[in-house]
Amino acid sequence: MLTLRPMQPTEFSKYRDYFIVDYAQEIAANFGYSIEKSSAIAAKELADDLPQNVTTPDNFLLCIEESNKGTIGYLWYKQIDAGTSVFILDFVILEAFRGLGYGKATLTALEEQLAPSGVEQIKLRVAYDNIRAFGLYQKLGFSITGYNMIKILAE
Ligand SMILES: CC(C)(COP(=O)(O)OP(=O)(O)OC[C@H]1O[C@@H](n2cnc3c(N)ncnc32)[C@H](O)[C@@H]1OP(=O)(O)O)[C@@H](O)C(=O)NCCC(=O)NCCS
Repeated sequence: MLTLRPMQPTEFSKYRDYFIVDYAQEIAANFGYSIEKSSAIAAKELADDLPQNVTTPDNFLLCIEESNKGTIGYLWYKQIDAGTSVFILDFVILEAFRGLGYGKATLTALEEQLAPSGVEQIKLRVAYDNIRAFGLYQKLGFSITGYNMIKILAE
């Protein structure tokens, strides 16, 4: 059975290590920066967004757990719009567990958790080339609200 549980303070440094590597790769691919520069940007953004780590107000860091398998992924969201919406800042199913329905099960569990608390919308951003995530969100009823665009003038 899949459950979403709060990340414990002792689990944060492992999450941080994963997040910086993963996000740095995305920054490097999107902006053409070196991996060193991208890692520094990723680390700074994480520190700015989560000044109190797992206890940062309005932010929810969850471990996705499956019976007998332990932590199979992470979900980080923030409450916005006076609590009527949440924005997913990070969502990952660890590589060994992908393609098994856990992504779908996680978002379904999230919807069930949020519904009684008055949350009306779940928002997120997905990279244009992330076919798997895009397919998952579409299947679950997310719709496109716009496009992020960038023109790089200088590094
Ligand atoms: C995106 C992600 C969370 C999806 O989790 P998952 O457990 O692999 O997803 P599921 O097994 O529930 O599959 C859901 C849908 O994804 C798509 N999908 C699954 N495996 C796929 C594959 N190998 N290739 C393309 N699409 C695939 C399908 O649309 C599938 O729906 P279906 O089973 O009805 O066909 C996971 O792949 C992941 O962590 N990726 C890296 C991080 C990431 O991209 N996060 C999202 C950021 S916005």
